[in-house]
Amino acid sequence: MVRPGLWHCPAVAAPADRALSRWFVALWVGVGCMLLIGGITRLTGSGLSITEWKPVTGALPPLGAAAWADEFARYLDSPQGRLVNDWMALADFKRIYFWEWLHRLAGRGLGLLVAIPWAWFVLRRKVRGRLALAVLGVFLLGAAQGLMGWLMVASGLVDRPQVSHLRLAAHLSLALLLSLAVLRLVLSQRDRPALGSRLLHRLGGVLVLAVLLQAALGAFVAGTHAGLIYPTWPGFGGAWPPPEALSLRPLWENLFLNPAGMHFAHRTTAWAVASGVLLWSVLAWREGQRRLPVLLGVLIAAQIGLGIATVLLRVPVGVAAAHQFCAWLLLSALATATWATNPGAPPCPTDSRRSSSPSASRASSPSASPPAHSGKSAWPPPAGTSSPSTPATS
Ligand code: HEM
Repeated sequence: MVRPGLWHCPAVAAPADRALSRWFVALWVGVGCMLLIGGITRLTGSGLSITEWKPVTGALPPLGAAAWADEFARYLDSPQGRLVNDWMALADFKRIYFWEWLHRLAGRGLGLLVAIPWAWFVLRRKVRGRLALAVLGVFLLGAAQGLMGWLMVASGLVDRPQVSHLRLAAHLSLALLLSLAVLRLVLSQRDRPALGSRLLHRLGGVLVLAVLLQAALGAFVAGTHAGLIYPTWPGFGGAWPPPEALSLRPLWENLFLNPAGMHFAHRTTAWAVASGVLLWSVLAWREGQRRLPVLLGVLIAAQIGLGIATVLLRVPVGVAAAHQFCAWLLLSALATATWATNPGAPPCPTDSRRSSSPSASRASSPSASPPAHSGKSAWPPPAGTSSPSTPATS
């Protein structure tokens, strides 16, 4: 039996709790912005422009001409500076430096956006128990992501001026997992509508996993610049499968070591993911839902369309960044759909306040102020929202 908990129990009840809810939404938007800035950083070739990792003092860009000259000299001494961008003048360097600096600054900002409100809510005892631990978990995941980001950059500062595509995939996957953890916090403050059947819930879970894997494959393509290998669609230079995509033995090595194989795999598995998402939408539509199937249909069509445009236009920054960002939106929508269609969760545990009607108990008891959020609280949902045990259509 599924235990009621952070996923399932409504917690938004009174105006005071909205601060908590808004904080989680702000974090989720923040992670989305980080993903977008990170994508632009990679696509503009800026990711290797800062050659040191100074978590605190690195927040400030070089101040003054001498500091810029030092920073530029360090870059020109790095593999990318020596082998790829030795033509650059200081003004060109400043342009690529900007994106990497902004990406790191946003990461620091996001860390503070987790830590400071967390301390405030915990001190005021508005967040405690499982919820406090869950937010701490998100903070630690964010810190791990920062470290992973540096390990990725470091792989491109030795010998070869290119980051490891495996580390890029790990960095992107961790970012997506972090966004799912934050989304889970957001949803913990919502009343779960219990839409749909168990089949939809399970299919949704499989699709979340499939999109995570598809995104990791996308990072392989991005990290090896394999998007440029077949600038044609729907074919791959006239053959299917293209022979060079399967040239390594054993075959599975093509997925990890052969850029043509990665490109072929990413585009081919996309059809399986798209079919799964469309199947989910059709099933949900037949069950009477409207918003989620339409949203998912639009997102998967946009994702495929942006992927095709990325290939045909030879990976322009704006289109490729939109393709990555749309993957995040698709993942978030699928995770929300999976949450919203969980029919297995029992109603939230009742407490003494629930024995009488919500309005009566609020009016009659001084303890009717909203409880501190432990992630297990079962404060009655506000009037007009459905309870977890009350199926509703979207
Ligand atoms: C469910 C469908 C898809 C998902 C979830 C998805 C996801 C992604 C993600 C997340 C990335 C970026 C990785 C990174 O920046 O580290 C990516 C890259 C890429 N994807 Fe997709 N993709 C999908 C379908 C497609 C399709 C259908 C095509 C082409 C027909 C395509 C072509 C590409 C290319 C060429 C890149 C590399 C772009 C670059 O170098 O920056 N994708 N994909």
